[in-house]
Amino acid sequence: MRRLVISLVSVCFLVVAAFAAAPQVATLGKCQKRKPPVVFPHKKHVDMKLDCKVCHHKYEGKGEPRSCFTCHKCEKGKAPSAKMAFHKKCVKCHKKEKKGPRRCSQCHAKK
Ligand code: HEC
Ligand code: HEC
Ligand code: HEC
Ligand code: HEC
Repeated sequence: MRRLVISLVSVCFLVVAAFAAAPQVATLGKCQKRKPPVVFPHKKHVDMKLDCKVCHHKYEGKGEPRSCFTCHKCEKGKAPSAKMAFHKKCVKCHKKEKKGPRRCSQCHAKK
């Protein structure tokens, strides 16, 4: 019984951890100075059946992909800046699909 309780508790932790890891919605605002942060509906994009690697381009397919911000910093370094990476990734696809926000104020929306 005790063991069952312990394993149930750890299952709960795993579930919580999985939810915490792959966000429903992520607020992209680490580098925001001039523009309001961008609300990114992660789950909605995953539900479009996009491969994780479409965005998580360094992901090997094992475990959880790492945050874009681990490599894409506010200032350009080894990797392009976060601003550059997100603008290229996000806006490019929305233009191609003719869907999703393409104007500045649609992503950088004032609350
Ligand atoms: C598809 C959504 C999207 C659109 C459209 C978009 N941006 Fe962004 N932008 C982002 C994201 C995401 C970031 C990075 C957020 C972060 O730093 O966490 C960003 C970062 C920035 C930054 C750097 C952070 C700051 O506040 O200084 C500026 C400046 C910026 N965008 C300006 C613009 C302008 C101007 C336009 C229109 C020409 C625009 N963006 C259109 C999503 C978008
Ligand atoms: C349309 C682009 C896109 C797709 C497709 C996508 N993600 Fe993400 N994901 C992001 C962005 C943007 C973030 C938030 C910024 C960040 O911290 O990396 C994020 C964050 C995450 C995080 C949290 C990272 C952290 O440490 O904070 C996990 C975990 C994750 N995604 C998993 C997945 C998995 C698994 C898939 C495939 C089923 C997937 N993502 C598909 C763009 C995407
Ligand atoms: C492990 C480090 C790492 C992670 C995590 C990472 N990137 Fe990158 N990214 C890079 C590097 C390095 C480059 C430069 C070109 C290359 O090596 O592929 C790059 C290039 C890019 C480019 C092309 C920019 C250009 O100038 O053409 C885009 C777009 C991009 N990343 C978006 C993202 C997004 C969005 C995420 C998160 C969902 C992400 N990256 C996660 C390291 C990373
Ligand atoms: C591979 C294509 C693709 C990429 C990459 C992508 N999106 Fe989208 N996004 C879409 C499509 C398609 C829609 C329209 C969904 C709809 O209208 O049903 C959309 C819709 C949205 C919406 C509006 C959601 C709503 O509820 O109306 C936001 C906000 C958004 N995207 C933000 C982003 C941000 C920020 C990024 C980059 C981190 C990003 N997207 C990357 C394809 C993409």
